[in-house]
Amino acid sequence: MHHSIEIEHLSFSYPDGHPALRDVSLRIAPGEKVALVGPNGAGKSTLILHLNGILRGEGRVTVCGLPVEEKNLGRVRAAVGLVFQNPDDQLFSPTVFDDVAFGPLYQGLPPAEVERRVTSALAAVKMEAYARRVSHHLSVGEKKRIAIATVLSMEPEVLVLDEPTAGLDPRARRGLIHLLRDLPMTMLVSSHDLAMVRELLPRMVIMDEGRIVADGPTAELMKDEQLLEAHGLEKM
Ligand SMILES: Nc1ncnc2c1ncn2[C@@H]1O[C@H](COP(=O)(O)OP(=O)(O)OP(=O)(O)O)[C@@H](O)[C@H]1O
Ligand SMILES: [Mg+2]
Repeated sequence: MHHSIEIEHLSFSYPDGHPALRDVSLRIAPGEKVALVGPNGAGKSTLILHLNGILRGEGRVTVCGLPVEEKNLGRVRAAVGLVFQNPDDQLFSPTVFDDVAFGPLYQGLPPAEVERRVTSALAAVKMEAYARRVSHHLSVGEKKRIAIATVLSMEPEVLVLDEPTAGLDPRARRGLIHLLRDLPMTMLVSSHDLAMVRELLPRMVIMDEGRIVADGPTAELMKDEQLLEAHGLEKM
């Protein structure tokens, strides 16, 4: 049985020489729901972008048993649904429907199945009424929800979300928490929303300055005031 995510000794520097990941190792088992927290600039988004090969560092990254390398990228991207921090990086089609249909169409699914996937993904984020709208004219929170739908429609084995509640209003945030709670797949969720982390994600990985500085049960780490404070997190 393979891990959903297996990262071994991953290091990465941006082209300007800034080291963003320093010897990161992390294993996530199927069905685990894991939070990735830490201050701005800790390297959370950089780590996430390695999970489907958008960035390639030194070290080994394997998802669902597939090494993340050129020849596997198609399968890797079907297995790992990645929602970017900025929804403008995710939405590029003329309409919401086309954006949400893009993944299933690319997978070669028949039109009726694509339609079913789109309808169900839009319903999951409560955006059924938006199918014919123009994606890039939506509000930030609306875009965020559509970006999540573009990944749900692929029915991935692993869901990776970068700041999913940022910019959502309280009702949309609550809806998203309920949605994620009911999804069975493996999840890695980067967030500054510690209330959401506590409610939804039983395991917590803390990053700071490109390193993993703690990894354990959320309930335990949340009690460690010194640890939280040292890494810019607030006890709640
Ligand atoms: N394209 C880039 N070129 C150079 N440096 C970058 C680039 N993108 C990010 N960095 C740097 O890499 C480090 C890690 O950034 P990253 O976006 O991964 O942090 P983060 O933990 O996701 O932060 P946030 O909580 O603000 O989303 C930061 O110091 C950032 O300035
Ligand atoms: Mg980030």
